[in-house]
Amino acid sequence: MWFRSSAGRSAARLFATIYTKSGMVPTLSWTEDGVRFIDQTKLPLEESYVLATTYEQVAKIIVTMVVRGAPAIGVSAAYGIALGALKTKAESAQEFAPEFEKICARLAGTRPTAVNLFWAIDRMKALFAPLAGSGTPLDEIKHRLLAEAHAMYEEDIAACRTMGAFGGALLPKEGGVLTHCNAGALATCGYGTALGVIRAAVEQGKQIHVYADETRPFLQGARLTAWELMADGIATTVICDNMAASLMRAGKIQAVVVGADRIAANGDTANKIGTYNVAILAKEHGIPFYVAAPWSTIDLATPTGDAIPIEERPQVEVTHHAGKQLTPNGVGICNPAFDVTPAKYVTAIITERGVLRAPYTDSLREMELVAG
Ligand code: MRU
Repeated sequence: MWFRSSAGRSAARLFATIYTKSGMVPTLSWTEDGVRFIDQTKLPLEESYVLATTYEQVAKIIVTMVVRGAPAIGVSAAYGIALGALKTKAESAQEFAPEFEKICARLAGTRPTAVNLFWAIDRMKALFAPLAGSGTPLDEIKHRLLAEAHAMYEEDIAACRTMGAFGGALLPKEGGVLTHCNAGALATCGYGTALGVIRAAVEQGKQIHVYADETRPFLQGARLTAWELMADGIATTVICDNMAASLMRAGKIQAVVVGADRIAANGDTANKIGTYNVAILAKEHGIPFYVAAPWSTIDLATPTGDAIPIEERPQVEVTHHAGKQLTPNGVGICNPAFDVTPAKYVTAIITERGVLRAPYTDSLREMELVAG
């Protein structure tokens, strides 16, 4: 397995950690030894890091959800490809080409739903192919692949900041904002998409109280969203997933903001399982339901949500928690990691290119033509 780079810290020390900038949790970072990831399976009780020195280790880190969240997965894969290139024994681009394909295929096989993964791999392929075909020295190609991964990392943070500015303006001056899963700094290279919108609203002086769905079965909301918002001093209450309707009815929720793993050409949105429930509840209670996602999450090649592949995760995530069995032996289990929210429930899609409104088939296509 991979090298665990630092010992776990105690929970008390963990909450005392001060990050220099709001939302700049060290989700993943390039070091001279490889890619360093905060281990999200250990949060919030332990802050520890793993170092990937090979592309295979990056692939395992994605599969096991040490790193997760659509944009973070995409950039991780880009760094994995760069690592694969840097570690190759090949002596020319021509010799490396089949190995490059194998590396890309391995990383593409890690998780199926977040389109950012395939977007990032395609971008690395688009860089590699003409360089390899033009006789560029392999050392130069390695350098360019790493630079491309760095560029994606920086662009992701910038996109989150811009989304934050657009989306923050949509939130009320004060009130409760519900979010599902973790679409925060931990799911991106920093700042976050849905949580970036919330962070920006708070930075704009708005009095926001976040309600974080715990997000069964992996508990990204209870563990990760709560952890990173607390680090920023943003008022946060964790609720069980089945409490949202009741809170909405009680008037405690003024808006919902979630992230996305893939947005089809018609605006249908794949996100963490349970998002669809929240969207229906929001509609029923007249509460705006916003999706915040970078353009790398938009998949215009997929016409509707029906064509989005939904990852089925291991049953053990449902049957057990922290090693303890919760369900009777042999009971049927299903564990789809994502669901699709039909576009009709989405009040607006917040991207770094602007805020899009229905009909999304038109607004997404027009934005792609204008900015693409
Ligand atoms: O299974 P995960 O934890 O990778 O799922 C993450 C989500 O569903 C997020 O909401 C989505 O990736 C958006 S992250 C900015």
